[in-house]
Amino acid sequence: MSAPEASLDGIARRALDWVRDGDVLGLGTGRAATAFVRMLGDRVREGLSVRGVPTSESTAALARELGIPLLDLGSAGEIATTFDGADEVDPRLDLIKGYGGALVREKIVASSSRRRVMLVGSEKMVEALGAHGKLPVEVVPFALPLCRRRIEQMGFGAPLRGGDASPWRTDNGNWIIDVALSRIEDPGELDRRLREIPGVVGTGIFAGMADVVLVQRGHEVQVLERPGGSAAT
Ligand code: A5P
Repeated sequence: MSAPEASLDGIARRALDWVRDGDVLGLGTGRAATAFVRMLGDRVREGLSVRGVPTSESTAALARELGIPLLDLGSAGEIATTFDGADEVDPRLDLIKGYGGALVREKIVASSSRRRVMLVGSEKMVEALGAHGKLPVEVVPFALPLCRRRIEQMGFGAPLRGGDASPWRTDNGNWIIDVALSRIEDPGELDRRLREIPGVVGTGIFAGMADVVLVQRGHEVQVLERPGGSAAT
């Protein structure tokens, strides 16, 4: 269970240290990202000039409501910093994302960014990815039977999010298999094997992508930096 949005204010405020006037920013999806976008909206009202590239329709709607100007990926050029949440963070700062279903756009926006700052509650910190038991994988609806069969042949459960009768639909019009697993020994290898299945659009494994992880521990904010990453403010 995630911390409620209000208790994520410390990391949301701290994340503003990585924002510069004039920046184009990637805007993530979920509770932590929402807490950040709300604070960014306050700064924009006070005169900060930034433009955002949203990772979901819900974040786009929130940003519009807050008066944050938006760009699409084509007109954004390189994004300075993307701010997003995560569902699991391991000691190397590799991530699982996508419990909120925006994993594909989140990975595209993160990959278009010079720097990635992730915001999480301490309950997201794990010794090994997979600890919370699932890995979201976005699939093209037509390919569901094949994707499911291949994932089950790999030894994992392959439940469809929302159930077979009413699958949950992503902003891209696809479906999500929440691959049921436990400790992932080699996240990069699992990501590669899953992406080899025709019809898999993307997985929630974000390996080597986070430059900074801000962890909310009660009222404290812990700052973790990936060695060799772009952590400097
Ligand atoms: C959305 O697809 C996800 O990747 C979210 O960024 C992630 O689930 C974290 O969300 P919360 O901050 O709501 O826990």
